[in-house]
Amino acid sequence: MLMLAGCSANRPVHRSALLQFDRKIDGIIGQMTLEEKVNMLHAKHMFVSAGVERLGIADMIYADGPFGIREEMQPDGWAGLGWETDKATFFPTGSALAATWSPELAYAYGTGMAREARFRGKDMILGPAINIQRIPTGGRTYEYLSEDPFLSARLAVGYTKGVQENGAAACLKHYALNNQENNRGTVNVIVGERAMREIYLPPFRAAVEEAGAFGVMAAYNKVNGWWCAENDLLLNKILRDDWGFAGMVISDWNGTHSTVDALKNGLNVEMPTRKFLGDALLDSVKAGVVPEELVNQRVREILRVRMAIAPIPAEEANKEITSRPPQQKIAYEVASKAIVLLKNEGELPLDLTSRPVIAVIGANAEQTMAQGGLGAGVKTLYEITPLQGLKAKIGDKAEIRYARGYVPEVFSYADMFRRRSPEEKEQQAREKAERAEILAQEAVEVAAKADIVLFMGGNNRSVETEGTDRTTIQLPSGQEGLLRKIAAVNPRIVTILTSGAPNDLRVVQPLSKALILSWFNGSEGGNALADVLTGQISPSGRLPFTLPVKLEDSPAYALGNYPQGKKGADVFANLVSETGKTDKTEDQAGKNKLNEDPHTAYYSEESLVGYRWFDTKNLPVMYPFGHGLTYTSFEYSGLSTDRDKYGKNDMISLTLELKNTGSATADEVVQAYVHRINPSVEWPAKELKAFSRVTLSPGESRRVTLEIPVRSLQYWDEKLQAWKDDLCHIELQVGASAGDIRLRKEVTLK
Ligand code: BGC
Repeated sequence: MLMLAGCSANRPVHRSALLQFDRKIDGIIGQMTLEEKVNMLHAKHMFVSAGVERLGIADMIYADGPFGIREEMQPDGWAGLGWETDKATFFPTGSALAATWSPELAYAYGTGMAREARFRGKDMILGPAINIQRIPTGGRTYEYLSEDPFLSARLAVGYTKGVQENGAAACLKHYALNNQENNRGTVNVIVGERAMREIYLPPFRAAVEEAGAFGVMAAYNKVNGWWCAENDLLLNKILRDDWGFAGMVISDWNGTHSTVDALKNGLNVEMPTRKFLGDALLDSVKAGVVPEELVNQRVREILRVRMAIAPIPAEEANKEITSRPPQQKIAYEVASKAIVLLKNEGELPLDLTSRPVIAVIGANAEQTMAQGGLGAGVKTLYEITPLQGLKAKIGDKAEIRYARGYVPEVFSYADMFRRRSPEEKEQQAREKAERAEILAQEAVEVAAKADIVLFMGGNNRSVETEGTDRTTIQLPSGQEGLLRKIAAVNPRIVTILTSGAPNDLRVVQPLSKALILSWFNGSEGGNALADVLTGQISPSGRLPFTLPVKLEDSPAYALGNYPQGKKGADVFANLVSETGKTDKTEDQAGKNKLNEDPHTAYYSEESLVGYRWFDTKNLPVMYPFGHGLTYTSFEYSGLSTDRDKYGKNDMISLTLELKNTGSATADEVVQAYVHRINPSVEWPAKELKAFSRVTLSPGESRRVTLEIPVRSLQYWDEKLQAWKDDLCHIELQVGASAGDIRLRKEVTLK
């Protein structure tokens, strides 16, 4: 059992953690020259912003997260330094963490990240990444947590507390509405304030108000006409005034666009450049356009964080290899509780009694996921692949025969910049098809002679990548065709998808006797998977997003809000234009008028994101939000509430009886949704408002209590610009997923 000692889920975090230093800070600012102040407001190096050596103020050292401490790089470039000691633990990526539905594990995760950050001498972790998964194709879906604001918020709070109670600062990213990668550097998100407040901002708000996050990273995009790094509404009014944020805001890398507006509207540090908050700012202050008091305030906000986080002298950092057993154990715990069993017609757990021949087919069986594509990865000490995990755990109890099956997509920087003639491209495609044919044939032969097939497919880190969205959620590399061929020779197929985001399962689902989603699951991913497959542990992950039947059903697609126009404005200058992933985006754009402008993203689906859309519109899904099976069964009964009527400041307390009626110990994630019966404003059909992960052994029963503050049911009134109560009759719906409600109870809000 993982020790969560030090987890103080209920300890209130006060702004005073940062404000306590203000008097001292005023003294320091009084001694600083204008040049020294301005020097703190932009990058010193790629991942460093300056302190004031003369006054003993250390530099601020940032580390890319969010799922492992990034390797050491050249001061002013992206190339690694080739150290040995910077090999870190690769933690399961965001959607995997979210699939645990466990704030406690998120806390442990933050603890692990902080320990490794401090070991490496870092002050601020660039994470957690907590944008809402608005589109299934979003390039960073794997990095983000969930389509649901409540689940995202609970995990963001856990992660942030875990980081900050272990000596490092967290930097919440990307604030806000960075929900697509295509054109992220130019896109203007047009969103209603109600959807913004109720869907997109809650994870940030909770991590600021409840976990006291010290840092926030402003996103690349614009929101309602203003760049996020100079957005008065987002940074000054909401973040600082409404939520009481006392810390520092840094820009995303190359995401600053102005001097005066950026400083005035709330940005503290321009990263990783000095184009706007360097000499230009100095000039603006000298010319009287920017008051020095404003510079002082921005410096003050940085110094608060600097004072709260003790710097680590360079000679004390990086003495040994970063990744350590306690963190590796956390990575295992998270991975093992993240794996989602979508379907099981009796093939799992694997029956090893007669030493079966197991065909392991699919390139993801030996694919590592710590790095790839564009963007932050982890130079990890080790990563157990699914094949390694299986061999290590059951190599002596089964005969494992591996066939690669398909040619995986591989992203390479060299390829990205290389222009190919049409003939060269054709030749390349021909060679690839030939290779695929040979691999498929081999796989079919191996499958035909096996007792059971474990098909290990899904996406990889070249398919899902920062900087570009996918054009489809179809399984890449011809996996569907391959699976059909395998099914023709051996119907006993267990499919394991190693993806960080949704795939279209229309072909795979009926062909698979059991189906697992096992994520980009960290250094220990292969061990965790083997333990689930063999029944050492019961699977217990739950989907943090809806798996739609098809991409076109999902809200932004159905309404023609996404994709918009031609891709071509990534901050890293069209780096991906050669991958061919953008062509379809261009084609589809012609289909409707709204999205012809590639630089405007309309969010006309408003709050109907994810299951809110599917439930409200009564659309079928492949698997609903919150779904996940175990190796046992649970019975829900006796839902009661402590009262029938609640005032606006009350807490609704729900109790039910949960019983493990099967034969394996397992975790159930009990979920409580709220449906409004006679509201005065429009609402989604239901919204997640509480959940609890409960472990029960066979036959064991437990009374489970869930709490929902009536205040958490408020809506944002756009006219009044305020949170309002919608006091009405509501139905509390308790179940195992958004599509599996077992118990209902009506209560009145008065
Ligand atoms: C990403 C950030 C990341 C930064 C530094 C940006 O492109 O959007 O998430 O922290 O680069 O690597």
